Amino acid sequence: MAISVPQRPWPVETLARVPYWVYQDPENYQRELRRIFEGDTWNFVCLEMDIPNAGDFRTNTVGALPVIVVRDTDGRINAFENRCSHRGALISFDDGGNVKQRFQCIYHAWSYNLRGDLTSIAFEKGSQGRGGMPPSFCKEEVSPRKLRTTTLCGLVFASLGDPPPIEDYLGEQILGRVKRVLRKPIRVLGRTVQVLPNNWKLYAENVKDTYHASLLHAFLGTFRLSRFTQAGGVLVSPDGAHHASTTIDRPEDRTSTAYRDQGIRTEQDGYRLEDPSVFDGVAEFGDDIKLQILTIFPSFVLQQIQNSLAVRQIVPKGLDSMELSWTYVGFEDDTPEMHRRRLKQSNLVGPAGFVSMEDGCVGGFVQRGTATAPDVLSVVNMGGEGAETQDTRATEASVRGFWKAYRRHMGY
Ligand code: FES
Ligand SMILES: [Fe+2]
Repeated sequence: MAISVPQRPWPVETLARVPYWVYQDPENYQRELRRIFEGDTWNFVCLEMDIPNAGDFRTNTVGALPVIVVRDTDGRINAFENRCSHRGALISFDDGGNVKQRFQCIYHAWSYNLRGDLTSIAFEKGSQGRGGMPPSFCKEEVSPRKLRTTTLCGLVFASLGDPPPIEDYLGEQILGRVKRVLRKPIRVLGRTVQVLPNNWKLYAENVKDTYHASLLHAFLGTFRLSRFTQAGGVLVSPDGAHHASTTIDRPEDRTSTAYRDQGIRTEQDGYRLEDPSVFDGVAEFGDDIKLQILTIFPSFVLQQIQNSLAVRQIVPKGLDSMELSWTYVGFEDDTPEMHRRRLKQSNLVGPAGFVSMEDGCVGGFVQRGTATAPDVLSVVNMGGEGAETQDTRATEASVRGFWKAYRRHMGY
């Protein structure tokens, strides 16, 4: 039975204002899990290369819903709820592995096939003619919920709802930006998990927030990795849901004093790197885009920062906590030199990186700063009020895009 909770009215029509209760209201959070993560959205669950062989599986969550993603004997990828039909235990408590034919719950040994069907019950007929399940019991009726799955460029997405095919979900332009980066078989370089002390949406906004990058991140501004005085812009899908921001180096930026003139701390004289080889990037995508950050609504991020490539998954962990799950990737045909370059550039980002530890703090600052102001509205006006593609990053167009998609899914 669907949970019915009273819904607060959205206070304004414009996309340029957002009420702070949206990060604090527990009923709204429960509604998000149902309507967004378990609704008509595609949620990243693993890489195809995580489960190459029959019986290979990974566990993950879709929002807060625990799921098993498994390669079937016919090569197809299945996903189903990781919740035993008997008493609700996790069917698998491992991060991943291989099962030959079946999953078996550790509690009372009920078993499931690779499609997630309940197939056998320990001592179903009882013992020595006594006990057991009633003859009328029907296994099919209690099997875990199944999710549909799809793949794109080696990524696996799952949905409990009924979203359009992933290509239509993303639209042609965002799809092209995914394919620009993930253009050949990938390999995993490493994984980390970062715990953030904030509501999941504060990170979803942060990663779309092209305005903050060179202002919060002193490293990006100081070492000219991303500045407004370089070229680039933000692509927003027509429905607002997905985005791709780009930075392109420009020689004029070398002499620009725009940050210093405004007294912005990100251009601090005197900071130098002992070893600047962390910036030793090479163009590998046939264009001059140095950084591309891309999101797929609601919880997936694809990162290209010079040659550091990663996918990130936003995992809500309650109203004011989330995890950011990072997988750093390269390509199967990388030379040893490119492999080392990617590993070195991975120092820029991740929980202890030069850049993204700040995103992990600043979401907590917003969570704390807004705790007693639920009915106040934030100001999201850089670059106007709309959520269209813009050829600048001095804008919050893609943040407004998030709220456009969010409000549609939530019925606001
Ligand atoms: S809870 Fe899984 S078999 Fe009992
Ligand atoms: Fe950031």
